[in-house]
Amino acid sequence: MSLKVGQDGSLRLPARVLEAVGLRPGDEVEWKLRDGRLSLGRSQTAPPDLSALLRERFGFAAFRPMQRQVIEAVLSGQDTLAVMPTSAGKSLCYQLPALLLDGLTLVVSPLIALMQDQVRSLAEKGIRAIAITSALSEQELARAYRLLAQGRVKIAFVAPERLRSPEFQRATAGVRVALLAVDEAHCISQWGHDFRPDYRLIGEVHERLGSPRLLALTATAPPRVREEIVGTFGIAHVLVAPWDRPNLRYGVLKAADDGERRLTAARWLRRLGTGPAIVYTTTRAQAEGWAEWLSHALREEVAAYHAGLAPDQREAVLRRFLAGEVRVIAATTAFGMGVDKPDIRMVLHVTVPESVEAYAQESGRAGRDGRPAWAMLLTVLEDDLDLRLFLLEREQPDEGWLRRRLEELRATPVGTPHRFAISEGERAQATLLVSQLVERGLAATGPRERRLEAITLKSPLSQGDADDILQDIDRRRQAKFDRFAAMRRYLDLTGCRRAFLLHYFGAPPARAKADACCDRCHPAAFGGRPATAVLKTRPVARTPGRPAPAAHEAIGHAPPQDRAGDSVLESLLAWRGERARSSGVADEEILTRRHLEAIAEALPTDLGELRRMKVMGEPRLAVFGKEILAVVRREQPRPADARPGRRHGPT
Ligand SMILES: Nc1ncnc2c1ncn2[C@@H]1O[C@H](COP(=O)(O)OP(=O)(O)OP(=O)(O)O)[C@@H](O)[C@H]1O
Ligand SMILES: [Mg+2]
Ligand SMILES: [Zn+2]
Repeated sequence: MSLKVGQDGSLRLPARVLEAVGLRPGDEVEWKLRDGRLSLGRSQTAPPDLSALLRERFGFAAFRPMQRQVIEAVLSGQDTLAVMPTSAGKSLCYQLPALLLDGLTLVVSPLIALMQDQVRSLAEKGIRAIAITSALSEQELARAYRLLAQGRVKIAFVAPERLRSPEFQRATAGVRVALLAVDEAHCISQWGHDFRPDYRLIGEVHERLGSPRLLALTATAPPRVREEIVGTFGIAHVLVAPWDRPNLRYGVLKAADDGERRLTAARWLRRLGTGPAIVYTTTRAQAEGWAEWLSHALREEVAAYHAGLAPDQREAVLRRFLAGEVRVIAATTAFGMGVDKPDIRMVLHVTVPESVEAYAQESGRAGRDGRPAWAMLLTVLEDDLDLRLFLLEREQPDEGWLRRRLEELRATPVGTPHRFAISEGERAQATLLVSQLVERGLAATGPRERRLEAITLKSPLSQGDADDILQDIDRRRQAKFDRFAAMRRYLDLTGCRRAFLLHYFGAPPARAKADACCDRCHPAAFGGRPATAVLKTRPVARTPGRPAPAAHEAIGHAPPQDRAGDSVLESLLAWRGERARSSGVADEEILTRRHLEAIAEALPTDLGELRRMKVMGEPRLAVFGKEILAVVRREQPRPADARPGRRHGPT
């Protein structure tokens, strides 16, 4: 075959020739002339062989779905958001480019406990990395900053709260940053389930570092959160990997009471044989209690893990669990995000998580080796919902309080530091308020420890600003309840749970159904319905005299009970339905049926009585109290036949 030299001296090579010598269109070619013969080869700047690098430096045979696309996007300089399921291998998407890029890869991550692990495993691969977190001593910190400033590390992990530290800013001032990776990027979204106000600083840091290419990574971003990430960083390129985890089997079991729940949990963990498992609880006390009970029931050590343990204790539990010395741990959600143990065979929630995002993240710890694993949720519905609602309410800021603080600030001259006099219980809402002010550029604060003590207005605070802030805080509150409502829909599904999760995260439907997809698709694999009668052997602490509600009743889609004559309850239910619709929430977010029944029975006449019934906290009392009393008053029968609730009694 012969080739013709063009008028401009160029030489075109047919595709199969290019292929034969390992070149692709767009490659840069180096040529050599030796003894009158021309030889061609790929130039030094030709695209690197990513597969070879993956094999040689990371020891992996092949890329997982989407990894190559993300890495290529990063290398080509595109700002990218990658949405990939838990355990898909997101870390590699910044680790591998870090080796090829000229400059530092800075990784923002909220997972302090796990940064050290990553640093260690990178060191084993000969990649110099450091972690800059509050866990470092003064000396370690100084050393880390020195290494950073001298350009002697390839990858630096940084906890979000460090971004505001002047030392960090100084150390990075002269450093050439090639890539800014934002792990767990959903933390930036105030509508997301794991909002970290310090994530808001990333945009500023990005600019200060000269706007290097950016890679945002997350597993749990529903479309709305995705949009917020993209908007915040001005990302044009979004890659979404198939979200499904086909090896996870999703199940929900409803227990009538805590005794049944404990026995069912023990049965499932025993049935699991030798596989490692995580039992998730809501509170620290529950984690302790479950560890104790399971140690006893399974006759093996079950360790508790929660934020109340000392750091070294926590680390020891984690280490022993990762090493397989402890098979089962009972943990709050302080444990989990980013934990990369491949062989966890079951994640068992004995609680209702606060959102589908949290649930997906937590249950996603299971089956990272790709082998079948169980994502189980075992609930005593009414109790769990009550606890969640209580916690959600407790977090609710009090509007009057916020207004007063804003007034205080408006009365403070611009530029003069102001100090909020707050009690410990008011800290959370004060922090919320301050982060709103800072985000809007309206105020500056002292360093982290003194944020609430030195708030300085940068410009006068208008009434409009104050209203905007309150509105945002209220929208955030609403978003929390909405997320919880979605979680509750998951519990109450009649269709496939996997399909629900995929839809929630805006992912395409699953291609093939697994052998045990979920308890809705394959009930037999999940033992059918929980065997209430057989299991109910332990005494249980419930409200005395009140029968355990049927599981379907608690969730609120129960057929209305036949309680003709109980017009107060009926009116209350009707009021609740309307209220829920107008607020766009589910019925039980207003009040549970059990509580409405209690009100219909007690017929409170004023707010004081209603308060003493303890069926709702102050925030809800403030919002709904008067309306409820009005309904009761309207329906209350004549004194002669008072208290119809008693007459008819609970069914
Ligand atoms: N191409 C690959 N081949 C085999 N194993 C891989 C590959 N890429 C990553 N892994 C391994 O997969 C595991 C999960 O990776 P990684 O922790 O990065 O997941 P992740 O997507 O960040 O998950 P999470 O959302 O839970 O944090 C790790 O043990 C990692 O070493
Ligand atoms: Mg990760
Ligand atoms: Zn299914």
